[in-house]
Amino acid sequence: MNELIDRHGRTHTYLRISLTDHCNLHCLYCNPLLPNTVGSRRKDSLSFDEVLRLIRFFILECGVTKIRLTGGELFVRKGITGFLKTLGEFKRDHPFMLGVTTNGTLLRQHCAVLKSSGVDAVNISVDSLREDRYEKITGQDGLKEVLEAISVVQSAEFESIKINTVVMRGVNDDELAEFAAFAAEKNLHVRFIEYMPFPNNAWDRQSFMSWRDMKRRIQEKYELIPKISDVHAVGKEYLIGGQKGIIGFITPVSEHFCGSCNRLRLTASGRIKACLFSLPEQEFDVAPLLRGGGTEKEIHAGILAALGMKWKVHPPAEQLAAGGRSTMTGIGG
Ligand code: 5AD
Repeated sequence: MNELIDRHGRTHTYLRISLTDHCNLHCLYCNPLLPNTVGSRRKDSLSFDEVLRLIRFFILECGVTKIRLTGGELFVRKGITGFLKTLGEFKRDHPFMLGVTTNGTLLRQHCAVLKSSGVDAVNISVDSLREDRYEKITGQDGLKEVLEAISVVQSAEFESIKINTVVMRGVNDDELAEFAAFAAEKNLHVRFIEYMPFPNNAWDRQSFMSWRDMKRRIQEKYELIPKISDVHAVGKEYLIGGQKGIIGFITPVSEHFCGSCNRLRLTASGRIKACLFSLPEQEFDVAPLLRGGGTEKEIHAGILAALGMKWKVHPPAEQLAAGGRSTMTGIGG
């Protein structure tokens, strides 16, 4: 077994894979419509066969037990249904936890294939429950469709369904209690994510809201009861007093969780990132090996090199905002 241990003793058992950096939404915190990016399409994504080869290697030989597929938006990629079926067949023989993170706009028509491919966990991004504001944030009038998709996946009984909400002060922070009501009413797990700086977004201290401020805001209306979570859980989780649903807070900016990090990322173009915030020089580009007859041994050495450069703790937000890193769409969160 080629365990993936970094020099700070962290074992990496969770791989997040961005299948495409294309997205049909243009959320202002992630993929805003910038004049210089409109129409630019990347053609250098790993093929599905290349991704499958890596998945087999990670699961069978590196001790990875959990994979999450992300984007961009994974459902805009052509051939995704066939890929999921093939992955599902592999998973039947070699069980692991399989999740997807989606914006939900194309989820309804893909629910059946997710289910039949053995997907365990579905995370859906919803940043506003108001139609006009949803459109302002994402650039598309799609809230109704996403809410319907959530009902459809709820009836399909996945192991886990979570809603991701990025909280931006002055944009959607006035909806925190509404989201808590939504969690309670629909018996959903809603996770509020601290807004993170990326080179193409407008992050600043004014638009940032810490999880403690979010929690205080919700507690004006609801009692939040701490819930014990698993050691690798990134979120701080709470039950809503006397009601159904779970509220979580993901706190990469105000309280990092680097100490218990077990995550590795594979970008759409084939770069292994040991940290969401890694710099290009800390990454390993596996594509040339995949395309040039590289062996599993060489791939493993490359991954270990990236792990060897993993920060004990990622730099503070202001430093991250300064740039030099990839945008979120190629990484997938
Ligand atoms: N800050 C916080 N969360 C973000 N996401 C994308 N960009 C950002 C950002 N700048 C979220 C998406 C998705 C999750 C994987 O990452 O909303 O739910």
